[in-house]
Amino acid sequence: MTEKNELAHIGVVGLAVMGSNLARNFARNGNTVAVYNRSPEKTHALIEAHGEEGHFIPSESIADFVASLERPRKAIIMVQAGKATDAVIDQLAGAMDDGDIIIDGGNALYTDTIRREQEVAERGKHFVGAGISGGEEGALHGPSIMPGGPSESWETLGPILESIAAEVDGTPCVTHIGPDGAGHFVKMVHNGIEYADMQVIGEAYQLLRYGAGMEPAEIAEVFKEWNSGDLDSYLIEITAEVLAQKDPETGAPLVDVIVDAAGQKGTGRWTAINGLELGVPITGIAESVFARALSSSSQQRAAAQESQLPAGTNADFDIDKDAFIEDVRRALYAAKLIAYSQGFDEIKAGSAEFGWEVDPRDLATIWRGGCIIRAKFLDRIREAFDKDANLPALILDPYFKGELEDLIEPWRRVVVAATQMGLPAPVFASSLSYYDSLRATRLPAALIQAQRDFFGAHTFKRTDKPGAFHIEWSGDRSLTQTD
Ligand code: ATR
Repeated sequence: MTEKNELAHIGVVGLAVMGSNLARNFARNGNTVAVYNRSPEKTHALIEAHGEEGHFIPSESIADFVASLERPRKAIIMVQAGKATDAVIDQLAGAMDDGDIIIDGGNALYTDTIRREQEVAERGKHFVGAGISGGEEGALHGPSIMPGGPSESWETLGPILESIAAEVDGTPCVTHIGPDGAGHFVKMVHNGIEYADMQVIGEAYQLLRYGAGMEPAEIAEVFKEWNSGDLDSYLIEITAEVLAQKDPETGAPLVDVIVDAAGQKGTGRWTAINGLELGVPITGIAESVFARALSSSSQQRAAAQESQLPAGTNADFDIDKDAFIEDVRRALYAAKLIAYSQGFDEIKAGSAEFGWEVDPRDLATIWRGGCIIRAKFLDRIREAFDKDANLPALILDPYFKGELEDLIEPWRRVVVAATQMGLPAPVFASSLSYYDSLRATRLPAALIQAQRDFFGAHTFKRTDKPGAFHIEWSGDRSLTQTD
């Protein structure tokens, strides 16, 4: 396995599935890897099952683990997010020397990462919060990695992370995102976009299944075909596989025997909360989080079904199946485009808020491989930001604007059809409202400003001159300038 006195290039703390797979990936790519887990059984199990894949240095104490690393030491923490992460950071920082690098590869909330970076920096060490996407398979075969932290750390860490990241066209799917919490922030929004991407796929499925009356296996074929066009992506690919899958026990379509209550670990919720805090309308992501919450409101759903809430629809809704399938494909593409555009807006706003200077081109580059939202159309997104890194919105790029010209009519038809059929399509519909709001010459916000002035003297601005104005609503209705 390892030569005596050999030191490890990198270490991994926490050897549950993600940590083990990441350690194996490092080892398989020629790195000597120090490994440590709180309970030594997991360390033994890893060495026993996969020790032959490369050079591992197992340790049973943090002190031995730290001593087995070459300097500057680099240790990636892959433990349960939260308190466990803080505990391990504390142990590592206590055992390491100045200039050593502690990396948190978990899904930490970026504000925790900012705090941890400060605390670790005060102890003379570097801290890097790194978002890692791609699930278990990605960790083993090549994830997309989004490291934040100080740029000096990136100089040391860059080559070793590049050795394990996914690659697209010879470019590794990893780059330094920005200081302190930038990496985890970007990973959070990545996950939010992932929620929206999954939801729009779900809505398309729902319409084909219950609107066009198609069976899951038939829809699987449709998704397979879609995967060779604009929608070519990992999520569309796995959807085709899932829909073709039969339940091994009953032989029924697997999707029919799964309880329709979607779970979540919270990164989508964080993205939505952050969007609200920053005032960025990330409607696609927020609706996707709400859609999962609604699906899991089982008591309320059961009560609603029992009470037989009226549908008010015409049950004999007539459709041209092939045309409808194509319309749904286009609506899915349009809603997905809006969700990505909004996600990039949130990253821009977060970057401005925290002074991170995140480059959207980097994200479009490193999300092309390894991660769950990997998709052909990220190439187009990269081209858009290449042409103009300060695009006011992704959908204003000439290529995407041209796409939307083709998509808008079928998208409207699908939202109308879903409404008439009584089928829920929250992201298809709200994205269309977002789009129409963005392009509207006048919004009802003028009326809202007047209402606010009426009941709270909040004043309003005028279209024809600068200043703040108020109407004496309870008096003579005269206009006064207040500012
Ligand atoms: P998974 O969901 O894949 O099981 P996880 O829950 O995110 O992974 O993380 C589990 C890992 O965190 C384990 O390696 C666990 O160590 P044990 O095998 O000893 O349980 C580690 N972990 C959890 N709490 C920890 C703590 N306070 N200190 C150190 N490691 C901890």
